[in-house]
Amino acid sequence: MTLARVAILISGGGSNMVALVRSMTGDHPGRPVIVVSNVPGAGGLAKAEALGVPGAVVDHRPFGKDREAFEAALNEVLTAAAPDVICHAGFMRIVTPGFVRKWEGRMLNIHPSLLPKFKGLHTHVQVLAAVDAEHGCTVHEVTAELDGGPILGQARVPVLPGDTEVTLAARVMVQEHLLYPAVLRRFVAGDRTPVFLP
Ligand code: GRF
Repeated sequence: MTLARVAILISGGGSNMVALVRSMTGDHPGRPVIVVSNVPGAGGLAKAEALGVPGAVVDHRPFGKDREAFEAALNEVLTAAAPDVICHAGFMRIVTPGFVRKWEGRMLNIHPSLLPKFKGLHTHVQVLAAVDAEHGCTVHEVTAELDGGPILGQARVPVLPGDTEVTLAARVMVQEHLLYPAVLRRFVAGDRTPVFLP
């Protein structure tokens, strides 16, 4: 069986990318083919290199507000890598409907909240402010609606007394690194049954 080609988009440290890459071994039906960062020198690029995964940078800054031009450059790199699946993993760019249309049905993202609650940024602060008893992360398909695509997995964690944004983010991050690889493995195998942890 041919292995699915997986591209991973990052902007920063790439801890989710590392978890995904490390999961794609043995009888896993996918393999990483490229890690692309919109930020030159992102920490995840060195981690990808250390893991033997080719890296690339498509700096969004020269394109200014021209999202389409940035995405055209990004698509050149992605098309050359010919991915079957694209994983957004700490990729901090909002993509246009045109980009989504090109890759729709083949793109995943991980968001640090129990969607549909707390879309957007600073989710851990939002959860603390809402005094919610639980929090977590969600893997969803990327669609034109920000953080709004079909949910493919969720992991829940308790919010504990004395939690801060830092302690909460760390607890969620542990689950991100379990959830995303589990969802990717199913997704690559053509199984869209959602994964729920614990
Ligand atoms: C994580 O909180 C993830 O949920 C969000 O970006 C953050 C950084 O992820 N998408 P990573 O360490 O760069 O994978």
